[in-house]
Amino acid sequence: MFYNAQAIEKQLNTKYIGRQIAYFDEITSTNDYAKEWAKEGAREGTLVVAETQMNGRGRLGRNWHSPKGTGIWMSLVLRPQLEIHQIPQLTLIAGLSMCEAIRGATGLEAGIKWPNDIVVEGKKVCGILAEAGLQGGTLNYVVVGVGVNVNTEVFSEDLPYASSLRLLGDKEYDRVHVLVAFAKYFEEYYEAWRQEGNLTPILKRYKIFCLNLNKQAIITNNEAEEIVYVSDVTQDGNLLIQDIKGNLRCVASGEISIRGLYGYI
Ligand code: BTN
Repeated sequence: MFYNAQAIEKQLNTKYIGRQIAYFDEITSTNDYAKEWAKEGAREGTLVVAETQMNGRGRLGRNWHSPKGTGIWMSLVLRPQLEIHQIPQLTLIAGLSMCEAIRGATGLEAGIKWPNDIVVEGKKVCGILAEAGLQGGTLNYVVVGVGVNVNTEVFSEDLPYASSLRLLGDKEYDRVHVLVAFAKYFEEYYEAWRQEGNLTPILKRYKIFCLNLNKQAIITNNEAEEIVYVSDVTQDGNLLIQDIKGNLRCVASGEISIRGLYGYI
């Protein structure tokens, strides 16, 4: 199964997502490269893909394990005209797109752990890291980095909730299939979102796959933990929760982290 720029270009059926590709055998981080390129004017939809990352980065300053030839390690350059506070909504769009892509390409029952981790059988198989670049107080670009553990076979013991499509589906998958399916969904949902200015066009679909909805969860805010009930996802991509006293409130992904009562979800 070939995995390179040519193989991706051949199967892509998008208008502009992935229509300019940079492919590397080895890179520090596709997000870092995409950010530099974005500063120099990379156009909307530019895609940076690597076989391995020496310094793949996850959220909260964590490392992202990116072993050679096993996963999709990629970053998209986007130039939406929007307010800075809307950026987190983009990560929900990317999450939903990857959830749909994995379902379509593998048949696995992928779900979304709000806001954008993709989970199969309670294990995380994909993470998303969006980083914005500002110029004079306005948004210049957003880089959406996506890491999918496709055919990874070994995970370190300090990642108990990580797994791969290969381990969960008991077979090897074609990374190009997953990537091009993602690009197609992403382009459609991104367009709809840009026209509307909020998540309304995709929210129904997002909620079908959101694994946190209508469940209890533990949220952490500055080390303070709280048991809540998850009632809804709003059109701004926030979570509507009910606290132990029955009060409803909205929380944003930048403010809290969330986990299940008995584990990751
Ligand atoms: C997370 O912590 O869940 C986010 C992980 C994001 C990893 C991807 S892999 C491609 C891109 N380049 C990086 O350095 N990080 C993102």
